[in-house]
Amino acid sequence: MSREFVGFDPQELEIRQAHALLNACVAPRPIALTSTVSLSGCANLAPFSYFMAGGGSPLSIAISPGLNRHGEPKDTLRNLVETGEFVVNLVTPDMLDPMNRTSTELPYGESEWELSGLTPAPSVYVAPARVLESPISLECRLFHLLPHGDGPGSANYVIGEVVYIHAAADTLVDGRPDSSRLQYLGRLDGEWYTVVDERNRVRKARP
Ligand SMILES: Cc1cc2nc3c(=O)[nH]c(=O)nc-3n(C[C@H](O)[C@H](O)[C@H](O)COP(=O)(O)O)c2cc1C
Repeated sequence: MSREFVGFDPQELEIRQAHALLNACVAPRPIALTSTVSLSGCANLAPFSYFMAGGGSPLSIAISPGLNRHGEPKDTLRNLVETGEFVVNLVTPDMLDPMNRTSTELPYGESEWELSGLTPAPSVYVAPARVLESPISLECRLFHLLPHGDGPGSANYVIGEVVYIHAAADTLVDGRPDSSRLQYLGRLDGEWYTVVDERNRVRKARP
């Protein structure tokens, strides 16, 4: 098989181009609809698809709220650093529109909750609310913050320890959330998303 390959040197790309390139290279990505509260008590809600699970003992996840185009921290990052608490809510396909509205850049201290139409529900161990419409919510405490770079678009790896999980009872099989009962929304590149549900799963036993 002969296939032609094109090379990209990130150093030669504008930040926007580099970002778009990475989003096409690493996909589909789950979306962490992240709820935080500032020290003064202002609630904030925003989506982050730079999101991964890291380990099971302790339960560990990471998100990356990058610095904005002015090189400043996003509200989620500010709140996280102030309080050390956040809640990651799973985004299902029917939540696409409300989730998208939460990505509106509002001035610091203004909440995206009303804009989204989503419903806040109390968390157990942390102050930020969970999203009632999400079938799964992860209450997290900040374990470590690792910036990579210091200008616009640079990464901030927020590693969180999951201290409590909420799962809708109708998603459980044998007491655990199961992909046969869940629909997942994945972020691709540009304005594209993908849907994973029971019909397009693929099964493969490990060797
Ligand atoms: C689906 C989706 C995924 C996003 N993922 C990220 C991400 O991983 N990192 C990031 O910095 N911004 C991401 N954004 C943009 C932020 O959500 C946006 O900058 C938001 O205004 C940040 O809100 P905040 O300032 O209230 O924290 C994403 C937007 C959308 C719609």
